[in-house]
Amino acid sequence: MSVSTMAPLEPALKVIADLAPVTEGRIIPLLQKLQEAYGYLPRDVVLEVVRRTGLPASRVFGVATFYSQFRLTPGGRHTVRCCRGTACHVRGSKAVLSAVKSHLAIDDGETTPDLKFSLETVACLGTCFLAPVIMVDNDYFGSMTPGGIKKVLDAYQ
Ligand code: FES
Repeated sequence: MSVSTMAPLEPALKVIADLAPVTEGRIIPLLQKLQEAYGYLPRDVVLEVVRRTGLPASRVFGVATFYSQFRLTPGGRHTVRCCRGTACHVRGSKAVLSAVKSHLAIDDGETTPDLKFSLETVACLGTCFLAPVIMVDNDYFGSMTPGGIKKVLDAYQ
């Protein structure tokens, strides 16, 4: 009996073939490749990969939930990245992040229920001279204030 999946299985089969033999020591690269292929780790696909490789499901899902780089739910259409680096911190990034969380009603690492926005915090966006900085997709917004968040995010609605 085959497992029904929402996502096509072909990308996962290619990942298995590329990493063969898939051993426990290769769970992280396995999950990284699956996430590259699907944009996140669809539960049904991971279960099917577990079944085909014989890897322990508890180990695979344990790794997937331990590391923040892995996402078990689909990301939003737009990704908001808030810098929490030192330069941004001293110029008020904490209040900016709070405003983003409040406006989207989600926490760091979450996606809005309508799948429009995902929120991530990052160590530095590489544009400290613009502090405090946020990014929406590939766009930078510098000298952000909590009051400016609504206008920036509304442009992506
Ligand atoms: S510390 Fe925020 S961009 Fe570098």
